[in-house]
Amino acid sequence: MAISKVSVIGSGTMGNGIAHVFALKGFDVFLVDVEEGLLKKGIDTISGNLERQVSKQVITKEEKDLTLSRIKPFVGVENTPGDSDLAVEAVYENKEAKLSVFNKLNSILKPECIFASNTSSISITELSAASRPEKFIGMHFMNPVPVMKLVEIIRGYSTNSETFETIRDAALRLEKVPVEVFDYPGFVSNRILMPMINEAVYALMEGVASKEDIDTVMKLGMNHPMGPLTLADFIGLDVCLAIMEVLYNGFNDSKYRPCPLLKKMVAAKKLGRKTGEGFFKY
Ligand code: CAA
Repeated sequence: MAISKVSVIGSGTMGNGIAHVFALKGFDVFLVDVEEGLLKKGIDTISGNLERQVSKQVITKEEKDLTLSRIKPFVGVENTPGDSDLAVEAVYENKEAKLSVFNKLNSILKPECIFASNTSSISITELSAASRPEKFIGMHFMNPVPVMKLVEIIRGYSTNSETFETIRDAALRLEKVPVEVFDYPGFVSNRILMPMINEAVYALMEGVASKEDIDTVMKLGMNHPMGPLTLADFIGLDVCLAIMEVLYNGFNDSKYRPCPLLKKMVAAKKLGRKTGEGFFKY
């Protein structure tokens, strides 16, 4: 089945980025969220990011307008159009919230519709259990979605080959680079990235170096575009902690224990860029 209509559930950072790239590449996009205000904010962000691409001459003004015209907002998951070929869930990183979305979608979307989660670490097999396991897959985009080339495509235990091939094809149509991954905690990206960030927080907590110098080591010593503490602020410290907990609980291995300083900062609501302060101030 070739996909043409895509519902994106959640219009936050990841959801609006996912809607952006699907619409830009000619898919009809239904953007779904719980409130009109959130949808407006999401679409304003898409418009701003498209404008950024126009000013960098990555796309034309006509492509921007066409892209925006392909995105239709919908308030409430229960109003997601039933004829969607693909539903990509990008709500916040909480298993119960995601299961509730898929449960609702399962009763209203046509049986052929593929369900994909943009979860950064929650088990695809567990998320798929209550809906349509053979047509369920992980489609993990990276932030900022319009810029980052990678999509991890995660096969749940029951994901069938047709579903995998259809999603791989969709990722190629987005001009992304798909990588096939099997369902283990953190997949590949966050199994490797998050322990590095967590270790940087330990280094800070133990006074090994200042936050600026820790970031400088990784930027200039390893050519990372952002230092790990800046990247943690960019991703969100609550998201980083949630992923470390998935790794820790999923492997039952102490090497994934979340750093106490990371936990303390999340408790203090210093979540990074989105709250104006994390390791750095914004
Ligand atoms: N939409 C469209 N274009 C965007 C954009 C957006 N949201 N954000 C940045 N850009 C464009 C800019 O216009 C710019 O374009 P040109 O190259 O044509 O000039 C380009 O991206 C670079 O942006 P900037 O010049 O503003 O800034 P920069 O050079 O510092 O790059 C960055 C910014 C791309 C974010 C870079 O710092 C970077 O790659 N950082 C690392 C990002 C990363 O690791 N992401 C993965 C996070 S982990 C994750 O997402 C998964 C998870 O599960 C937690």
